[in-house]
Amino acid sequence: MEQSKDSLKVLVIHGPNLNMLGKREPDIYGKTTLDEINSTLEELGNRLGLAVETFQSNHEGAIVDKIQKDAAIQNGLIINPAAFTHTSIAIRDALLLLDIPVIEIHLSNIYKREPFRHKSLISDVATAQITGFGVQGYSMALEALAKMIE
Ligand code: DQA
Repeated sequence: MEQSKDSLKVLVIHGPNLNMLGKREPDIYGKTTLDEINSTLEELGNRLGLAVETFQSNHEGAIVDKIQKDAAIQNGLIINPAAFTHTSIAIRDALLLLDIPVIEIHLSNIYKREPFRHKSLISDVATAQITGFGVQGYSMALEALAKMIE
């Protein structure tokens, strides 16, 4: 059965330390807070006909639980796994359970930074990756997802 666009849902997962955006290394991550990013996404979602749910955790297992419990009932996922990008086989494995488009996003360009950030354990299981566009990347991800799932 075809789903009406109004009932399409997108989950946005923010990983560790992203709750500190605004205060955290503003020269790298900018001054926008996580609440501001989430509000922007919810408003954009309204305009695009998508219900946006946001979730942040500093805990790897909590992110795995959220993916297992809630991501499968969504139509798309945007995830900034933050430091877990470079370390978490558990989050990678959880993403492999999904049959929906997954956009991996980073505020900074991870390939322009320290060598340990160049490796993402997520990128080859994600549908696409957006890196280095700052907060604008989140809106880009949501707009791209809207086109993918409409
Ligand atoms: C980040 C990049 C990661 O390397 C880092 O650990 C983060 C944020 C980004 O959005 O640029 O916490 O994912």
